[in-house]
Amino acid sequence: MQFDTIITGGKLIGGGKTVHADLGIRGETIAAIGKDLVKKSGLGGKGRNGSKEIGASDTRVIDARGRYVIPGGLDVHVHLALPFCGTTSADDYDSGTRAAACGGVTTVIDFAIPYGQESLQQAVDNWHEKARGRACVDYTFHCAITNWPRHGPEVKKIFDQGITTFKQFMIYESQGWQSDDAAIYAALTRLRELGGLLLVHAESSRVLDFLIEQHHTPELMRKHKAMLHVVTRPNFIEAEAIERVIHWTRVTKGRSFIVHMSTGEGADLIRKAQQEGVDILAETCAQYLVLDDRVFGGADGHLFATCPQLKKPRDQRRLWEGIRRGEVCNISTDTCTFTRSQKAMWDGDWTKIPMGMPGLETLMPLVYTKGVLGKKISIHDYVNRLCTAPAKIMGLYPRKGLLKVGSDADVVVFHPTRTRKVDHKTLQTNCDWSPFQGWNLAGFAEHTFCRGAHIVDDYKFVGRNGWGRFLKRDHVGRA
Ligand code: URP
Ligand code: ZN
Ligand code: ZN
Repeated sequence: MQFDTIITGGKLIGGGKTVHADLGIRGETIAAIGKDLVKKSGLGGKGRNGSKEIGASDTRVIDARGRYVIPGGLDVHVHLALPFCGTTSADDYDSGTRAAACGGVTTVIDFAIPYGQESLQQAVDNWHEKARGRACVDYTFHCAITNWPRHGPEVKKIFDQGITTFKQFMIYESQGWQSDDAAIYAALTRLRELGGLLLVHAESSRVLDFLIEQHHTPELMRKHKAMLHVVTRPNFIEAEAIERVIHWTRVTKGRSFIVHMSTGEGADLIRKAQQEGVDILAETCAQYLVLDDRVFGGADGHLFATCPQLKKPRDQRRLWEGIRRGEVCNISTDTCTFTRSQKAMWDGDWTKIPMGMPGLETLMPLVYTKGVLGKKISIHDYVNRLCTAPAKIMGLYPRKGLLKVGSDADVVVFHPTRTRKVDHKTLQTNCDWSPFQGWNLAGFAEHTFCRGAHIVDDYKFVGRNGWGRFLKRDHVGRA
């Protein structure tokens, strides 16, 4: 059999197993997994430095000896070029998906959000426009419902366009995005009928607004600066909102997914609800696992502002436990990049900080280094939570999320211990700072393939804009 690429000698990870085998790619899919593919396809010799082309034919041979070979990662929570907090997030489909590729992520899911009186269709069309011709890795969208009475009747039409996951926000009234309990109840009911999934940003807005108002004085802002972001978002703000989502999911017999869960209390609630048979899932994000709220005390503390807030080391421990046990089903980034000058809009008032951080390029290295090398999770948990489970839940499996003959050839090769120092200047992001500046991380992609195309070679991006394709979905699944 002839291949366009053979990845030889690596340790393939998937389905809880490690397999020592070669992997052959033809066109856009995985064509073979087995022993001695180089010899069997009539090629000889050895690759050099894990990356060079050898042999007389056009077949590229990647020498992956001593490396892990895993499915491309899925970051199912990103915001690219998002108009938000009075500005637009700085990573778009060009820089954001280049960053994804270098970090080993080959599929991203963004949120199409309607603004003002826009329909769901207008929001989806706007997001297609942002991505078309620019995306370097595959992508699809969740669609945000911001006004149930107007958007509810459109849900089926959007579902039929391949968008099977929808989102509601329990906060962001001033953005015009907030949903109340009735809207959440109605969306859960409608999506149950269609077989879709409702994603929810769970924070308790009324008490949050009350705390913000209480602390929004010149004296307190001078005294506590960015730390007020922490003070006004205690853990119960997330926990109460998750309790309500659990309640509405239970009574509607619907299916929900808590996005960017940040608290130990949240993980406890999700675990209990799942044990009681409520069909609810929850992701966390890398920043909640590796950063805690002490960063707000630093001179650049305001840069770290995101929603929900970074929490305490005890929350990190509980979230890692949730990843091991499964009540935390996947890890994403909530990438929403703002540069230093955008963050400077705060001018001492924490309520004006553009909320969000860069993360796409560091997701997999962070979780690998702190999780696998830090002995919090196994390499199999790692591949499951970053590749397989998100693909299943979001209706992309078995096209994505596993190494199997017939699946898309989304493949990442990485060295198990070789580290690189994070420096925003050498990352693909448009951001001029990194929350992880100076950290030494293993797990950066030495090679990334997206649908068979070699888009990262020897840690360098070699892909192209427009290669990334919109992924039409027709279902959602289970982890
Ligand atoms: O602060 C964040 N996370 N910004 C992006 C919007 C959201 O809530 O996901
Ligand atoms: Zn959110
Ligand atoms: Zn988000």
